[in-house]
Amino acid sequence: MADPQSAVDAEDESRGDGLDPRVREHTAGERQAGIPFIGAGPGDPGLLTLRGKELVDDADLVVHAGSLVSSELLEEHCAHAELVNSVGKDLEELVPLMRDAYEVGNSVVRLHSGDPAIYGAALEQMDALEHEGVPTYIVPGVTSAFAASATLRTQLTLNGVANHVAFTRPQGKTLEPEEDHISDFLEMGDVTTCIYLGTHAVAETMDRLLEAGHDPDTPVAVVYHASWPDEDVIEGTIETIGDRVEEAGYRASAMVLIGDAARKAGYERSYLYDGWASRGSDGDADADTGTEADD
Ligand SMILES: C[S@@+](CC[C@H](N)C(=O)[O-])C[C@H]1O[C@@H](n2cnc3c(N)ncnc32)[C@H](O)[C@@H]1O
Repeated sequence: MADPQSAVDAEDESRGDGLDPRVREHTAGERQAGIPFIGAGPGDPGLLTLRGKELVDDADLVVHAGSLVSSELLEEHCAHAELVNSVGKDLEELVPLMRDAYEVGNSVVRLHSGDPAIYGAALEQMDALEHEGVPTYIVPGVTSAFAASATLRTQLTLNGVANHVAFTRPQGKTLEPEEDHISDFLEMGDVTTCIYLGTHAVAETMDRLLEAGHDPDTPVAVVYHASWPDEDVIEGTIETIGDRVEEAGYRASAMVLIGDAARKAGYERSYLYDGWASRGSDGDADADTGTEADD
C-alpha cells in the first residue's frame, strides 16, 4: 500500500481544479459502487438514515468508530457482519483491511458517528482507498449538534437570537490556541456555538471565555450522549457550567452548546408564518429579494 500521505497528495493532484466527475453523476446519499462512509447518527439506531440502514444490513464487514457508534446500533443492524473497531488503528492498517475485503467481493461499510463530514477524518481514508483503486462515497447522518438541539427542544438558529451556527472544537493537542475561535464566535453575538471534542475541557474553555471578557451569564447546555439511553443534560452559564460538568464526571461524548438558543431565550416569531412567505411566488423565496425563506 502507498504511504497514506503520498496517497492523499496524489489524489489531491489528480483532482486538479475540476470536480470529480462522479459529483454530477450521483445525488447525495445515492447507493453507488464502492465503500460507503456512512453517518451512523448520534447513537439511537432510529436515527440512522434509511439508506444507511439498507447498507449496513447488507454488509459483510463493518468498520466502526468504536464507542461513539452505539452498541445498540451495532447489535441491531450489524450482528450478521464482521465488526472491526477503528479506534487505535492507523491508516496503514485500516486501508488494506477495507481494500482487501472489498477486492474479494465482500460488501464493506465504514461507519462514522454522527455525520462523516464533521470531525470524522473520513476524507483521508477515502483518498487512500481511492488511490488503491477502491471507489468510496459518503452517506450523510445526523450530526450530534442536531441531536443535542432536539434534546433541548430548541433550534440552533432562532429569529432575533441566533442567525448563525458554528461547529467548532477547542484548542488542545490537535488545535493551536490561535486556531481556537470559540471566543470570536461568541463575540459575534448572534451565533449558536456547538463545541465538538471538548467535553474534557469544558472548565478550561469557559475560563478562557471569562478571561476574554464574555458575559458570565451567557447560557451553556452540555448534552452528554444525545439520543443514547443514558443521555443527560447539564445546564448552566459560562460561569457555572465547568464545575457542573466536572461534578458529573463527563470527560467525552458530550456536545457543548453556547448561546441564547440553548435556552430558547428571547426569540421573536419569524417572518415565515407572518404572511411574509405568501407574498413570494411559491412560499420558497422572498418576492422582493429572491432569497430563500426559512422553513
Ligand atoms: C470525533 S467527533 C465526531 C463527530 C461526529 N462526526 C458528528 O457528526 O457528531 C466526536 C465528538 O462528537 C460529539 N458527539 C458525538 N456523539 C455524540 C452524542 N451522541 N452526544 C453528544 N455529543 C456527541 C462529542 O463532542 C464528541 O467528542
